[in-house]
Amino acid sequence: YLAGVGQNAGQLAPLAQAQPAGKLTILYASQTGNAKGVAEELHAAAQAQDINAEVVNVADYKAKSLKNETHLLIVASTNGEGEPPDDAIEFHEFLASKKAPKLDNLKYSVLALGDSSYEFFCQTGKDLDERLAALGAERVCERVDCDVDYDKDAASWTEQALAEVKQTLSAEATGSVVSLPVNAPAASQYNKKNPYAAELSLSQKITGRDSAKDVRHVEIDLADSGIQYQAGDALGVWFENDRELVAKIIARLGFKEDQTVSIDDQEFSLADALTEKLEITQTSGAFVEAWANWSASKKLQTVVADKDKLREYAANHQVIDVLLEKKAKVAAQDFVDALRKITPRLYSIASAQAEVEEEVHLTVGVVSYQQGDEQRLGGASGFLGARAEEGAQVKVFVEHNDNFRLPSNPDTPVIMVGPGTGIAPFRAFMQQRDAGDAEGKNWLFFGDQTFTQDFLYQTEWQGYLKSGLLSKLDVAFSRDQAEKIYVQDRLRENAEEVFQWLEEGAHLYICGDANRMAKDVHQALIDIIAEQGKQSPEQAEEYLKQLRSAKRYQKDVY
Ligand code: 2AM
Repeated sequence: YLAGVGQNAGQLAPLAQAQPAGKLTILYASQTGNAKGVAEELHAAAQAQDINAEVVNVADYKAKSLKNETHLLIVASTNGEGEPPDDAIEFHEFLASKKAPKLDNLKYSVLALGDSSYEFFCQTGKDLDERLAALGAERVCERVDCDVDYDKDAASWTEQALAEVKQTLSAEATGSVVSLPVNAPAASQYNKKNPYAAELSLSQKITGRDSAKDVRHVEIDLADSGIQYQAGDALGVWFENDRELVAKIIARLGFKEDQTVSIDDQEFSLADALTEKLEITQTSGAFVEAWANWSASKKLQTVVADKDKLREYAANHQVIDVLLEKKAKVAAQDFVDALRKITPRLYSIASAQAEVEEEVHLTVGVVSYQQGDEQRLGGASGFLGARAEEGAQVKVFVEHNDNFRLPSNPDTPVIMVGPGTGIAPFRAFMQQRDAGDAEGKNWLFFGDQTFTQDFLYQTEWQGYLKSGLLSKLDVAFSRDQAEKIYVQDRLRENAEEVFQWLEEGAHLYICGDANRMAKDVHQALIDIIAEQGKQSPEQAEEYLKQLRSAKRYQKDVY
């Protein structure tokens, strides 16, 4: 042995005999990348503790191999409506099916990510946790359900789960570190916790004066940050709340702007905390409940007593609205503790670097509504669309999304369905295909309220039609005639050709509203495939499922 190595030789020797070594498998089910990020941090922490671990996207994992696992940690996100992320649909189904094996030898734990403003909070994590237990697997620690500000809960679950895993993995097994390559893009030094301070170079209204909506085309200068993104990625945007609104809240509470509060053991003036650190344009059920108790408001107490009413109320009121229901006496620190920490908003990127280089473009719908005689604006959209002046600083980071990508083959046709601000990633797609002289056919379905006021990026699409980059453009303006016409109606009208494109290998993309639009478009596709392919609805559903597994049917919906 070389000097310095001999010392370890005694410990290394038994390792060679202890094959196969016990191993920890980390699976993640991610839609926008949060679960993937947590899983990668978990993997790094495992390696730092000399635990033999590998991290795998559940989409790339053969569910049948579960029976060979001894230690499994799962990080799973849930889609808005309680469904698994696209990548996890098959795994989720397999676990629920009769094919799922007995898992008596498996030790596991689940970290569930979700958003408590939705009814089926953390449902995917809950499902997986229950199924694994039902199949005989043993929890090494309890599942943790995380809300949108998941950092703290995720870190404490990671610590606990790894401690348990380490204890039960055979002692000999530690030491040999094997890890599968994670197909992560070249990591930029900037991320959610360490965003890049970019400059807002343009925020321009692109809906007409008479539009019911205020949609902004936003350009952000990445200068020499070295930040790289791909068409399909999202941009995370940190924002500042409106200082006037903050002042209003502080006045209503009878506090002083400069009094000190603490958040995660750091001290801030109350005004700064409410401007930079806490959500005030979104409320949680927990905050409404706390205020109902403090104020003893009859109205709020009735709301709180009914879960559906509470969700509905929390989704449609800002913090100031809750305070205006009834006054209460409360300590500033207690008030601060009842609020959620601010989280960045993700916007689908509307540009391709092949075209715009050191810039990133967004299509931002400014959230705005009337509350009595006051206008309320959304947090990030109010910042980007109304408050931030050109030249202002915006803290941003790229959230890579491998679930929304152009086909790698430039000859493959694509069908894009993107009503409203759902158009954003398709502007990126077309810039990308234009710059790469891709030969594949491109078909865009766009919809919005009216042709004259809401045809986002109209001249660009018309230019692409003229140049031949866009093969087809079908638009649905819902309010230009007596009856509503939506993108799915245009799809149905073109059923034969849509099906033909799919049979030719087209990739299909949907971006925009998840609650109604994406579901209705999905149904239209099933009908089209059933009718044109002479299939039963079940076979058509299966056809779409296959497309999804082949990554030919991708959604970016919110
Ligand atoms: P509407 O508001 O006139 O009903 C972008 O917001 C466009 O999506 C608008 O034209 C809007 O129409 C339309 N839209 C609303 N509900 C939809 C649905 N279920 N499916 C598709 N488009 C829808």
